[in-house]
Amino acid sequence: MIEIENVHKSFGALQVLKGIDLTVQKGEVVSVIGGSGSGKSTLLTCINGLEPIDSGRIVVDGTEVHARDTDLNKLRRKIGIVFQQFNAFPHLTVLENVTLAPRKVKGMGRKEAEEIAVQQLSHVGLADKLDVYPSRLSGGQQQRMAIARALAMSPDYILFDEVT
Ligand SMILES: Nc1ncnc2c1ncn2[C@@H]1O[C@H](COP(=O)(O)OP(=O)(O)OP(=O)(O)O)[C@@H](O)[C@H]1O
Ligand SMILES: [Mg+2]
Repeated sequence: MIEIENVHKSFGALQVLKGIDLTVQKGEVVSVIGGSGSGKSTLLTCINGLEPIDSGRIVVDGTEVHARDTDLNKLRRKIGIVFQQFNAFPHLTVLENVTLAPRKVKGMGRKEAEEIAVQQLSHVGLADKLDVYPSRLSGGQQQRMAIARALAMSPDYILFDEVT
């Protein structure tokens, strides 16, 4: 469960999040809708601790994200994020992009990581693009690769920044 309580966040003088309260229950799908620049991406990056917050709290499965003693790497293993700009590694193939986190973060062997990656990439219709570099993919294909990359970690939560 994700609990967001009275979260405030500014970038310098610009106040972006002004007291956000939100609870997401297990199995729930929540959409956040708002104008460009209103703070949607900022909220998502706060949930997995990529951005600090100024006040309030965000609790994921009982762990306070911004507490000093929180192991963010451990927390992020269960929170996948599909970035608005997809953030593919340009020097890695599609397959390598998807196997990277399972191998580096979960310590999975190459064979197992590749099996999972091929399965997830097939799911999103990219089975024929395994050895291609991201710059050769269309925008939608890059987005689907980013989704496969998030799914390959079997996260408990996925944050989609601009869902397909
Ligand atoms: N790292 C940063 N440093 C300074 N300002 C930032 C930073 N990231 C975002 N902002 C500002 O915070 C505000 C919210 O940005 P954010 O990216 O969260 O908006 P958004 O709702 O996701 O917009 P869009 O729909 O265009 O993706 C914007 O005014 C943006 O310029
Ligand atoms: Mg955004």
